[in-house]
Amino acid sequence: MRLIKLKLKLNSYPIIFSDNNEDLITYFKKYLSNRKIFFISDTNVSKFYLKQLQKLCLQEKFNVYSYVFKAGEGQKTIDTLNKLYNYALSVGIDRQFAVVALGGGVVGDTAGFFASTYMRGLKLVQVPTSLLAMVDSSIGGKTGVNIEKGKNIVGAFYQPQFVFVNTQFLKTLDPKHLKNGMAEIIKYAISFDQKFFNKLNLIFQKSIITEKDFKDIIYQCCKFKADIVQRDEKEVTGIRELLNFGHTFAHALETITKYKQFLHGEAVAIGILFVAILAEKIKFCDLATKQKIEEILINAGFNEKISKKLNHNTLLNLMKKDKKSVSQIIKFVLPRKIGQICSRIEVNDQIILKAIEEISK
Ligand code: GLY
Repeated sequence: MRLIKLKLKLNSYPIIFSDNNEDLITYFKKYLSNRKIFFISDTNVSKFYLKQLQKLCLQEKFNVYSYVFKAGEGQKTIDTLNKLYNYALSVGIDRQFAVVALGGGVVGDTAGFFASTYMRGLKLVQVPTSLLAMVDSSIGGKTGVNIEKGKNIVGAFYQPQFVFVNTQFLKTLDPKHLKNGMAEIIKYAISFDQKFFNKLNLIFQKSIITEKDFKDIIYQCCKFKADIVQRDEKEVTGIRELLNFGHTFAHALETITKYKQFLHGEAVAIGILFVAILAEKIKFCDLATKQKIEEILINAGFNEKISKKLNHNTLLNLMKKDKKSVSQIIKFVLPRKIGQICSRIEVNDQIILKAIEEISK
């Protein structure tokens, strides 16, 4: 079992790496003294793991309730929350219960926001089961849901008691969702570490990624994430904004396609390509950097473009409503070189539109 301790100003919590779900129960006992658990999961994940975890909890005399909602980004809504609040109240979930988010990013974000608001706050444990959630969304306390006009617009910073990463969960993840998580991993590599970038690029060129590769990659990404969150928990100084590399465009793309066409990671991969093109256009990075970014995306299997039919001005306007934008001025996170990125860069609208043109087919 390995551990990363995430140290924040007001509290600290561990990210626990273990292949054994019994360790999860040990940590429940350590952190949740009331032994009352409310599992929240989705239809993809619950069929594999919910019963097993419930059983382990019941053996230890936990009081357990569960709520399962339909899988998919389209469910990360206020409507799902509303159903959750009503269900929780109807079965008697009170402040002694802890919420356990068992699932990928959608479950983690929705259950996390539920935990932050239901009865003004219940304890929360994140148990990520997707690659994307293991390397990014379960760590750092961002919770929330989408609205029709914007991604992650309603939410709160709400830190869990701990995060439990068991890479065995990945065995039932379909390849599309594994690839989805790779986009966030590529994000870290371009952003923070040239050596990690080169290592990752080599791994992508092999036909098989081993279990050890996955474990090492996930651990490394959690270290990157913990380091950034520790330095700027609530995204105030610009440091945590770096984690939004590729996300300004991705969020606009997910919103314009009504959260139906792209998985989050697929949109992030296109968003990363977009900022590489943008950065090269304004000579923020050189051509070789842009090409290296294009190459790693292709090696990881990301070669999608966006449909020419999408309205470019709408995409531009959606980016102006991004949480990082100030008075409708988009603040981009752009690559300087592999291993170095910068936040809060402004780019002229005409150049943005040209870059959108380049990623359209
Ligand atoms: N996923 C970006 C962040 O947690 O800040």
